[in-house]
Amino acid sequence: MKHNITAVVGAQWGDEGKGKITHFLAEKADIIARYGGGNNAGHTIIAGGETFKLHHIPSGILYPEKICILGNGMVIDPEVLRDECERLKSRGISCENIRISDRAHIIMPYHRWIDSCQEKKRGDLRLGTTGRGIGPAYVDKVSREGIRVIDMLDEQILRGKIHSNFIEKEELLRESGMNEKQVFERCLGLADYFRPYVADTSLFLYNAYKDGKTIILEGAQGALLDLEFGTYPFVTSSSSISGGGSPGTGLPPYAISSVVGISKAYTTRVGTGPFPTELSDNTGEHLLKTGIEYGTTTGRARRCGWLDLVILRYAIRINGINSLAITKLDVLGGMDSLKIAHAYSHNGKEITEFPSSLQVLSDCKPVYTELDGWNENIRDCRNADELPETARAYIKTLEQLLDVPVSIISVGPDKDETIMCSKVTAAAH
Ligand code: GDP
Ligand code: IMO
Ligand code: MG
Repeated sequence: MKHNITAVVGAQWGDEGKGKITHFLAEKADIIARYGGGNNAGHTIIAGGETFKLHHIPSGILYPEKICILGNGMVIDPEVLRDECERLKSRGISCENIRISDRAHIIMPYHRWIDSCQEKKRGDLRLGTTGRGIGPAYVDKVSREGIRVIDMLDEQILRGKIHSNFIEKEELLRESGMNEKQVFERCLGLADYFRPYVADTSLFLYNAYKDGKTIILEGAQGALLDLEFGTYPFVTSSSSISGGGSPGTGLPPYAISSVVGISKAYTTRVGTGPFPTELSDNTGEHLLKTGIEYGTTTGRARRCGWLDLVILRYAIRINGINSLAITKLDVLGGMDSLKIAHAYSHNGKEITEFPSSLQVLSDCKPVYTELDGWNENIRDCRNADELPETARAYIKTLEQLLDVPVSIISVGPDKDETIMCSKVTAAAH
């Protein structure tokens, strides 16, 4: 049987347009599953003139017949998730087909508190986290203090786990004003809300896989925010690369049949850490303003720079990306010339592999290839042939320098503002 499991992953520092592309591809899928992260993610979908910002819920939710899974690799803030569901419902979107893994971990109010205390303590060395309690929730998971969704559904277990966490974190929580009883009662109230959605999603996904269903694994964050391969310590606390899709859902590693890497036509980053192609000039300002580069989750202005192929080459390797979706090509319009970093210069030597040392990365200077820009508005283009020749040359150059085909070009935020270059729907590989 032909298996169709496509991982859709961010190839940069997050916010590449995973929400838009997942929603686009989900039309031909049966199941859309998130496998990592939590509400640090902010995935935007624009369809039929309406904007939806999703944080926990997979970007297949606008299709009433698709199953949307919150996988076991996620950390879930039940209060935020309830609000997310209610907001969608109030706009006529059904949340009935959501399934939440019984093994996913819960973000507790004290995780948010600890996240903010840790960031304050770091001072100038702060990571610039989203403040959603993500890191502390994963720390508890790894140190075996975590509370899972299944635990939340059992009053006695929940009470015991919250109690032991309050003892273990006594010092950290002293000034939080948090009260064990209140936290327990709030959590218990939320348990009833979620009970109907909770399932053994790994079993569900495995059966769906065996039945030949088309599944999209929707990545959160991006290659350079991955805990193992990102710009550590300026990373998130989970595996955002495609490989994380297996432990994060329970699907076998060999089940993933294709990997679509999403990259903006330039580079952005929120939070701190080195960024070789960052532009602190008018061009950077132009990208910020034209691309409306403000965080979907925190509203922070994103740092902007030229496209960096050293990053993309690395992302392609560590994710096994077989095709790229290039988003926001429209934002590059109106510029006389465009630059792409194809290598870095470090101590007089040219390097093409992304360095593991942040010190080395900070000292790297991008080596650019310069290309002509275009002035036309490309948002109405629906076919690669309709793009200006210089825009086509930009895409062709990427394909040649990266040796990976560009299968989707996004020319605007709306689902319809999309060009399919070849068949890379979740169904075709
Ligand atoms: P995600 O986290 O990867 O899903 O990305 P975000 O939703 O956080 O950020 C991407 C932003 O770019 C959102 O505001 C999208 O609506 C927008 N976007 C996506 N694709 C395009 C595109 O091709 N052109 C333009 N102009 N905006 C886009
Ligand atoms: P999506 O899925 C962009 C960044 C934060 C910070 C670092 C650690 O929308 O692409 P965390 O709160 O996870 O402990 O923060 O990771 N970060 C993101 N940046 N997009 C995201 O998600 C992000 N999720 C986390 O800004 O630098
Ligand atoms: Mg985002």
